[in-house]
Amino acid sequence: MPVFSPSALVNELEENLFSALEKMAAQVESLQRPLIDLSSGSPRQPTPPAVVASLQAAAARPENHDYPSFWGKFTLRQAIARFYQRQYGVELDPEHEIAVFHGAHIGVTGLPRALLNPGQYLISTDPCYPIYRSAAVQAQAEFYGIPLHAARRFLPDFIEVPEKIARQAGLLMLNYPHNPTGAIATPGLFAEALEFVQRWQIPLLHDFAYAAIGQRAGEKPLSLLARPEAKQWGVEIYTLSKTFLMAGWRFGFVVGNASIISAFKKLHTHSYSTVFGAVQDAAVTALDLPENEVTHFAAIYHRRREKVIQALRAMRWPVDERQGTFFLWLPVPAGFSAQQFTEKLLRDAQVLVAPGHGFGAGGEGFVRLSLTASEEALAEALKRIAALKLFA
Ligand SMILES: Cc1ncc(COP(=O)(O)O)c(C=O)c1O
Repeated sequence: MPVFSPSALVNELEENLFSALEKMAAQVESLQRPLIDLSSGSPRQPTPPAVVASLQAAAARPENHDYPSFWGKFTLRQAIARFYQRQYGVELDPEHEIAVFHGAHIGVTGLPRALLNPGQYLISTDPCYPIYRSAAVQAQAEFYGIPLHAARRFLPDFIEVPEKIARQAGLLMLNYPHNPTGAIATPGLFAEALEFVQRWQIPLLHDFAYAAIGQRAGEKPLSLLARPEAKQWGVEIYTLSKTFLMAGWRFGFVVGNASIISAFKKLHTHSYSTVFGAVQDAAVTALDLPENEVTHFAAIYHRRREKVIQALRAMRWPVDERQGTFFLWLPVPAGFSAQQFTEKLLRDAQVLVAPGHGFGAGGEGFVRLSLTASEEALAEALKRIAALKLFA
């Protein structure tokens, strides 16, 4: 049987961080205690029943059995516009300023391909969601990550972008609340980002995957588009995966600048198929859910974060409480690299966390712990880690 080599492009892609972690976890499966996986970021609660019921009804409707429209149903784009108006006071034109796709992953990799020319730079942060680096590879572009520092609360300082790189930049890509550091955008961050893109005349893409999960109840993370000048320069990606506990449904969208959306839509019609009509109808139900249901899902993570922070403090593991998303970004104890510390937790506590360097060299010295496991599993994991007495 012949063995075919992957393309040069595929060879350039890094091994997916989470498949590498899966392999690590498989090595400890034979141990006496069950493994507690705090490495992944998939919400584990069920999708709201009203959304499930809506899909069930929509699946029976014959109009949903044909190929759906490439642009997404107009009723869906109207629901997205209503949602952005209600949540952020942003006006959107459903005709030209909204595109829908199978999960934010498609937007995160597709938009760079639609906007960058080979050799241009995709500028983001270091550390960042690992797919941003592979998005640059897929667009045959270069990647530059602005180093993030704890002292600046993991917000980028655009002065750190070397002028040579800024001159060759084709896209600035941000993500706040930030995966993996949990950092939360300040109004100043978006003002500086918009200044940067205006100076270099490049588009700005904001991945708002953790839009619903700020530090605490009543504190809504900022949308880039809420800034009046943002639509001239940028777009924002939104996903139903986290806000509405719909990770398996694969539904996301991008809103904002019409020329960026138009470039992306052209690529989308060639590269990807469109979302099942019944999922689109269910997405309308989700987007129209009353506000208190949306905040109720986020409250689950706020509650868990508070409990976990208490346990971390009790074992003297330093933690900055000002974090959003459903992750905690934690420094490793002195004397360990992120990889060594991850291996130690796996071997001696049977707890799997994500090592910081998997998110870029700038993540060295940290691990990311996910709050998507149940409260019991989190409590047990922290008990096991505390017993190792690793923090002085
Ligand atoms: C920052 C960030 N962007 C995008 C995604 C992908 O989201 P989706 O489930 O909509 O593909 C994730 C998923 O974890 C994420 O953390």
